[in-house]
Formats: sequence, structure tokens, C-alpha cells
Amino acid sequence: MKISMVGTGYVGLVSGTCFAETGVIVTCVDVDKEKIDNLKKGILPIYEPGLEPMVQRNVENNRLFFTINLKDSLEGVEAIFIAVGTPPDEDGSADLQYVLSVAREIGQHITEYLVVLTKSTVPIGTAKRVRAAIQEELDKRGVSIPYDVASNPEFLKEGDAINDFLKPDRVVIGTDSEQAREVMNRLYKPFVMKNNRIVFMDIPSAEMTKYAANAMLATKISFMNDIANLCEIVGADITSVRRGIGSDTRIGYQFIYAGAGYGGSCFPKDVKALIKTSDKNNHSLEVLKAVEDVNDRQKLVLFNKVNKHFNGDLKGKRIALWGLSFKPNTDDMREAPALVIIDNLVEAGATVVGYDPVAMKECKRIIGDKIEYASDPYDAVKNADALLLVTEWSEFRVPKWKEMEGLMKSKLIFDGRNIYEPEDMKKWGWIYYGIGR
Ligand SMILES: NC(=O)c1ccc[n+]([C@@H]2O[C@H](COP(=O)([O-])OP(=O)(O)OC[C@H]3O[C@@H](n4cnc5c(N)ncnc54)[C@H](O)[C@@H]3O)[C@@H](O)[C@H]2O)c1
Repeated sequence: MKISMVGTGYVGLVSGTCFAETGVIVTCVDVDKEKIDNLKKGILPIYEPGLEPMVQRNVENNRLFFTINLKDSLEGVEAIFIAVGTPPDEDGSADLQYVLSVAREIGQHITEYLVVLTKSTVPIGTAKRVRAAIQEELDKRGVSIPYDVASNPEFLKEGDAINDFLKPDRVVIGTDSEQAREVMNRLYKPFVMKNNRIVFMDIPSAEMTKYAANAMLATKISFMNDIANLCEIVGADITSVRRGIGSDTRIGYQFIYAGAGYGGSCFPKDVKALIKTSDKNNHSLEVLKAVEDVNDRQKLVLFNKVNKHFNGDLKGKRIALWGLSFKPNTDDMREAPALVIIDNLVEAGATVVGYDPVAMKECKRIIGDKIEYASDPYDAVKNADALLLVTEWSEFRVPKWKEMEGLMKSKLIFDGRNIYEPEDMKKWGWIYYGIGR
């Protein structure tokens, strides 16, 4: 079986590689020549645990190929996935220019039946537009070639993407075609051997499922952050509350951690895009609007605590930041809370020194020398007036507190992810601020 994966970013590269792992011949396509040249040399554009050896193995076994030429990738393929970016445009809607440009290219070059799948997160109605764009090109060519357009939203999460793809909770396929269904069943069978977790549905429902999933997860986070802020006012501890409610199986323990706000390439843009879709359809998604407001506010909570501690005078203060990526196990800095915190600290006159196990290169690419970059966590806290824990990488969980005492100007910590015990910190003479405790 042969497939083509167009867009070799986070989703395209992981999905393509995982399909290749099952024996499928995969060609990954991208317009970014440098990215493709690097991949051919074994250099990956992203950090994702376990991905590099898997790419290498499949390239060596002639199952995974990279090209900038979509046309070349089409020979003999049964399915082509569109996995390009869908960033927000000026008004917050998903910008479909890349998706539709790939659709037109497909229309210009297909020669035999194939299934075209939107793997990118796309608003309801996109499959129709993809179909129309392909048809327009076929009409221009004056040819009639059969094809199906189906929706296959992706649910992998950065940092654990391979595991998510190889052992999915579910695979959602939106299609109205028996033939497409058969191709998808064959392609995804190796991933759902234990439980047949392929959920077939109509196309608009599949497109909506992805947005509803991310919107629900973002809602859980904002809900807990809102409750956390109230906990602080009324003297409760959000970590106890979390344990108390998580034990209810209707609620569950996942995604109910209070923190410095959600970020990343998906939640912020998908929440925005869904709100936009509802507005355009004269429906107001009140819950989601509040979710977004709470998150914008939450990204400032750590900074506000620091500012208040120093009575609004941060000039000349040296602030250490542990963790820059939007979450652990990724170098993705898109919409990372750290960026908002850095902006505010620097604006207020502080010097910021950051450390992250993998995201420093990416951070530097985005904000340059706005902050200093440390060689390790202890280097970061040298002469610091305060430490802010922003991303909960494992290596920050059990620091050498004694060593840090000798390095920092004062024993002051702002724990943006509630990974330390306030009682311990107090016992050891630290001034500790958490979120919602
Ligand atoms: N990153 C995630 O965790 C995640 C998870 C699920 C779904 N998604 C969705 O998947 C889609 C892709 O996200 P991503 O994070 O992989 O994006 P990304 O920015 O990492 O990658 C997109 C790639 O598409 C390429 N591209 C753009 N136009 C192209 C074209 N015409 N032909 C070929 N390649 C082209 C870009 O060069 C880039 O390499 C988005 O819609 C996103 O919302 C992302």
C-alpha cells in the first residue's frame, strides 16, 4: 500500500512515519525545501521523543521518502493526506489557503482513483471546498477521474505523539463513500488490532469532532484555573480540590491541573476558530468565549504575582525562568505562556534568564536575545532574585535546593505548575507562590 502525506510538520511527519512503521510506503511532501533537504540528511525539524530513530529506520528500509514535488508522490497511491497548517487568519477563522492550494495541486496531477483526506484541523464545510477545488482543476484539464474526499482529524499530542498515533484512543473518519471506508479500514487496521476503534461518521461531524475535543480540553483547563484563582481568595488549595474531584470517574484526573494557562499550536487557534464558526452561523458559544478570556487572564497570573511581590518595581531584578516550551517534551513555543511572561517582565525592566532542556534554540529563533539563555537550571538561577517554574519538565521536579540557596540572591519561587510542596518549601525557608493554593 502506498500513500502520500502533504505537509511534513508535526502531524505530517509523525503520521507519515507511523504509517511507514506498519509497512506502508509513504512519501512526505512539503513546500519547505530546506526542511525536506534536512530530512533527507536525517535532520528533523522538530523535537519529539522517539521520532528520530523511527524516521531513520523507515528511511533505511525504503518505506519513507521525502520530496518537494507533490506530483511525484502520487504514483500508485491509494490515499493522500492533507496535513498542512491551518493558522488563524486576521479575524480568528482558520486560514484555509494552504489546504486549498494542496487540493488544487491534487486536482492538477491525479491520474487514477484515490482518497483525499483532510488531516489538518479544518472547519465544518472544508471537505466540500476541497472537493470543489479538485473538481475545478479536473474540469480545467477536461478529464474525469474518480476520487473521494474524507475527513480524518488527528488527535495526537505533542510530546507523546508516537504513542498516541500507534495506540489511538480512536480514529475518526468522516466519509460518505464505501470505497474510502475500505481503504481507511485497511490503512488503520494495524493501529486498532486490539479494539476496533475506528469511528466512522458523516464528514461535518468528523470535522466538528476535532474542534469539540480541543474545546472540551481547553474548557477543563480554564475551568480549573478559574476555580484555582477563587481558591486563593477563599483559602482553599486547588491541588486538594483536584484530587477530590478527579476521583469522580465522571470527571477524571486528566486535564484538571491549574497552571499558567494553555498554549501550543492547537488549543488557542482551535478555540478561536470554533468561536468564529459559531458567530458566522449566528450562534454564540458563550462557554468557549469565557474559556478564552480566562486563559488570556491566566497567562498573566505568574507575572502579576511576581510584580506584586516586588511592589510593582521590577527594574534591575534578575528573574530565572525554568521551562520555555508550551509544555514538556516538545520544543514547540507557539503561544507558549513563557512568551507572555517574558514580554511583561522585560517591559517592566527585569532581566530574564531562561533555561529549557530542548526549546532554547526555538525560543531564540522567535525572541532572539530578549532574554539570556543558561546552560543548565543551576546556571539560570545564579544571582537571580526569583525563580519562575513555567514548564514542568521532569528534570525540574527534584532540584538541589541546598545548592540553589547558595546561588540565588533570595529564596523566592513562583511555581507556575504546582509541582513543589508549599509546606516543604516553607520548612526549607523559601518564599513560595503557587497557583490556587
Ligand atoms: N501539532 C499538533 O499537535 C496537532 C495535533 C492535531 C492536529 N493538528 C493540526 O494539523 C495541522 C498541521 O499542524 P502541524 O502542527 O503539523 O503544522 P506545522 O506548521 O508543523 O506543519 C505544516 C507543514 O505544512 C507545510 N506546507 C504548507 N503549505 C504546503 C503546501 N502547499 N504543500 C506542502 N506542504 C505545505 C509547511 O511547510 C509545514 O512544514 C493543523 O491544522 C493543526 O491544527 C496539529
